Amino acid sequence: MNDSLDLGLKEKVAIIAGAGAKGDGIGNGRAAAILLAEAGAKVVVADKDQELAERTVQMISERNGHAVSVAADLTKAKDCEKVVEYALNHYGRLDVLDNNIGIASNLSVVEESEEYWERVMEINLKPMFLMSKYAIPAMISSGDGGSIVNISSISATRPKGLTTYSTSKGAVLSLTQAMAVDHGGEGIRVNCILPGPVYTPMVYASSSYLNQEGMSSEQRSQRQNASLLQIEGEGWDIGKAVVYLSSNWARYITGHLMVVDGGCSLSARARG
Ligand SMILES: NC(=O)c1ccc[n+]([C@@H]2O[C@H](COP(=O)([O-])OP(=O)(O)OC[C@H]3O[C@@H](n4cnc5c(N)ncnc54)[C@H](O)[C@@H]3O)[C@@H](O)[C@H]2O)c1
Repeated sequence: MNDSLDLGLKEKVAIIAGAGAKGDGIGNGRAAAILLAEAGAKVVVADKDQELAERTVQMISERNGHAVSVAADLTKAKDCEKVVEYALNHYGRLDVLDNNIGIASNLSVVEESEEYWERVMEINLKPMFLMSKYAIPAMISSGDGGSIVNISSISATRPKGLTTYSTSKGAVLSLTQAMAVDHGGEGIRVNCILPGPVYTPMVYASSSYLNQEGMSSEQRSQRQNASLLQIEGEGWDIGKAVVYLSSNWARYITGHLMVVDGGCSLSARARG
């Protein structure tokens, strides 16, 4: 292979924060974990739910990749520190961090409860701050720079009825660019992905998403039709963007806000 085509991920070590997914579903985090392992990285699958994390590890092992799971509540500083230490102790270095954790809300400020507002802010932002806080020094000491990918949402720039969620995801954009400025000189690239509607367990199996169980076929086709390409986004689409931004191919890219939405955010149609 032409060396310039090498993604440069072989022997690199990646932490995916929130790499579990319900059942055998392909969430954005699980997809990124599987694809990074297929690209040759050693993957630390961190999730508060050990069973979901272990299933991701099994899926990677079935594809002959290398991964370990760590159960951790990544809203807690000591758990974030533990995950980074685990990566260093187990694999000896750290190069990539995918900050994937997030929960949704579809209420207005009038309808939203104070408790749920605080929960969304805590889960959607704190793990990104804390994981980066411990990961960046570990990446620097590993000696080959590093890549952080923060998962936002197109709701950050096109809020349509997901007010608390949009606010938290907007903060992810600022956090990404501020971290890129602070740590570019240390060789750490920090980028952000803004996924559009993606058919993942988060949306089809979680009662916390849109405050309901499952998704009707009408809602599903509405999401699909929101894409200019008239195709449905998958966790794999987000995982592939994470691999690209983590790779050598993106060596000149930092502070970038990458929309991965099939053109949804260009369409005028409102989401349901
Ligand atoms: N699916 C979509 O349509 C869509 C669209 C835009 C953005 N996103 C974003 O993509 C990301 C999630 O994608 P996904 O499909 O992988 O979700 P997912 O719900 O399948 O997976 C998220 C994982 O995070 C874990 N988690 C939650 N809180 C945690 C905590 N405190 N500590 C450790 N782990 C925790 C969960 O156990 C779960 O396994 C979110 O940031 C979400 O906002 C999704």
